[in-house]
Amino acid sequence: MVSRFNLSLSFRLGMFCICLCFLSASADLRRLEHRIKADGSLSFLVLGDWGRKGAYNQSQVARQMGSIGERLNVDFIVSTGDNFYDDGLKGINDPTFQNSFTKVYTAKGLQKQWYNVLGNHDYRGNVEAQLNPLFRKIDDRWLCLRSFIVNTEIAEFFFVDTTPFVDKYFLRPKHHRYDWRGVLPRKEYLSNLLKDLDLALRNSAANWKIVVGHHTIKSVGHHGDTKELVKHLLPILRENDVNLYINGHDHCLQHISSKTSTIQFLTSGGGSKAWKGDFNIINQNELKFYYDGQGFIAVQLTRTNASATFYDIYGKVLHNLNLSKGSLYSNA
Ligand SMILES: *[C@@H]1O[C@H](CO)[C@@H](O)[C@H](O)[C@H]1NC(C)=O
Ligand SMILES: *[C@@H]1O[C@H](CO)[C@@H](O)[C@H](O)[C@H]1NC(C)=O
Ligand SMILES: *[C@@H]1O[C@H](CO)[C@@H](O)[C@H](O)[C@H]1NC(C)=O
Repeated sequence: MVSRFNLSLSFRLGMFCICLCFLSASADLRRLEHRIKADGSLSFLVLGDWGRKGAYNQSQVARQMGSIGERLNVDFIVSTGDNFYDDGLKGINDPTFQNSFTKVYTAKGLQKQWYNVLGNHDYRGNVEAQLNPLFRKIDDRWLCLRSFIVNTEIAEFFFVDTTPFVDKYFLRPKHHRYDWRGVLPRKEYLSNLLKDLDLALRNSAANWKIVVGHHTIKSVGHHGDTKELVKHLLPILRENDVNLYINGHDHCLQHISSKTSTIQFLTSGGGSKAWKGDFNIINQNELKFYYDGQGFIAVQLTRTNASATFYDIYGKVLHNLNLSKGSLYSNA
């Protein structure tokens, strides 16, 4: 009798601890709210791999984003990381912040909230500085966190810090130095992040679940698939019926679908320097679109429909996909 009692007590204690762990861990993903438009829609631009003080067509991309952003009256701008080349920000006084961000994205249509994740080049600088809310005093559009959630009435956005997943930055950093403060011990950091993300996605009742990270999951570009994300992140996205995974890292624009899930993989890494002719045809059967020049993506959402449009630096529409709820995948 006694032992059975002990067993059930420790079982219950165990369950209690598991619940506590989940509660404390899930508190780590900061949750922000963003209002949708009065007509029930939401629109935003996605840009990646950009901060080069205006060079390599960064300024031309910025100008077109400004005009599309104004036309769509976008609600916010998403950056997929590699915000500052070559080596992130040196500190809170680094003029690169203004020279590559404030002084480049000056158009009226871009005076909105920016939600930024970090890329591998950002990790080569002072990461704590780039995450420092003091930058909001210099430019109040700026918001950069490692991993966080932006909730809206019709869609939930899950921003994921992908750089710490990639083995080679730890095992073969070459001459680069990465700022891993706040990420170590790595194994614990990654497992907490995956657990928090899985829980948040599972609890999400949003119509559209959109995950944003710097690194590719599927890509026919220079870097190709990121095997660590295919292994650890993709299963969680699949299980939780994520609609879009949006990344940068490869300096191109691309759309890849999936034969085994409803996830659409979008790359917006054309914010400045692009690698012309850098193309790898391994995944070709799922490839819908690839452009090896500069540009960005505009996304428009309603409760039932989603569309993503890819633009070049002249504002020309290069590709477009439409998704609708009910007939999950149409026209793309
Ligand atoms: C700027 O974009 C144009 C049009 O795509 C391209 O021809 C040109 O090479 C680009 N310049 C740079 C420096 O990437
Ligand atoms: C959604 O898309 C369907 C067809 O794909 C279209 O008939 C409908 O008008 C769209 N609804 C909205 C609100 O845009
Ligand atoms: C998606 O919808 C838009 C507007 O409804 C339309 O202009 C565009 O041609 C559609 N794209 C595809 C690929 O069907």
